[in-house]
Amino acid sequence: MVKAKVKKAPSQRKSPKKSSQSRSPNPMITVHIMGRAYSVPAEATIMGAIEHAGYQIVRGAGCREGFCGACATVYRLPGDYKLAMGLACTTLVQDGMSLAQIPSFPAEKAIYDIEELTPDVATMAKLYPVIFRCVECNTCTKACVQGLLVMDYIQAAKRGDIEMLMDLSFDCVSCGMCVLRCPAEITHYNVGVLGRRLFGRYLRKESPELVKRIGEISGGNYDAEYEVLLAMSHDELKKRYYDRDME
Ligand code: SF4
Ligand code: SF4
Ligand code: FES
Repeated sequence: MVKAKVKKAPSQRKSPKKSSQSRSPNPMITVHIMGRAYSVPAEATIMGAIEHAGYQIVRGAGCREGFCGACATVYRLPGDYKLAMGLACTTLVQDGMSLAQIPSFPAEKAIYDIEELTPDVATMAKLYPVIFRCVECNTCTKACVQGLLVMDYIQAAKRGDIEMLMDLSFDCVSCGMCVLRCPAEITHYNVGVLGRRLFGRYLRKESPELVKRIGEISGGNYDAEYEVLLAMSHDELKKRYYDRDME
């Protein structure tokens, strides 16, 4: 199993390539948000720039840390014919960028009872027959804001390789950008969710470490520590969280 990719911390956010704009203190650049030009801080994320411009983000934001996929954004850079995709909370603005948020994308989602399924290609074909329309253009992989091998996980779904589907789709944040671009109109992220559920329900190996840890929790080994945390104020908890040893 491929190790889950570590999410980028705010300090590691995607930076634009070097621009001709000099980085003097508090430089401002121009971005076009929903067709209108605004002057925004050059070091802002797209989300920060949208809010700096005066918009209140109601639907296009959740975690603000690159995990939830609510802030999918399409943008173009001056002189670049390519349409680019990114998460507004982790992608920095660039001078001349033109952008629009797509907080939700309409997509078919199969309804099923996981207890009544089998982890194989027959289930995939029944619940998501559209995957067999894939023309292997790889556009979904190029569109993925997480850099996932999206076409490959759809191919795994077509073969009934549930473990590969789970593995390759593991870091999907369900932003919908691949769905937006797919000429076969496949709803990739829902296929990935089904694969991960099937793997978790039928194929995962038993974990002795997990059984041991659940036993420790049930046995009250951590009760005293929980009591200490529950008695803390919000600020004390915040301090403790950010002061913790990072891996
Ligand atoms: S696979 Fe699709 S929905 Fe998932 S993160 Fe990539 S672009 Fe977003
Ligand atoms: S964009 Fe759609 S058709 Fe193209 S490779 Fe991806 S799933 Fe297949
Ligand atoms: S707000 Fe959650 S990924 Fe951007």
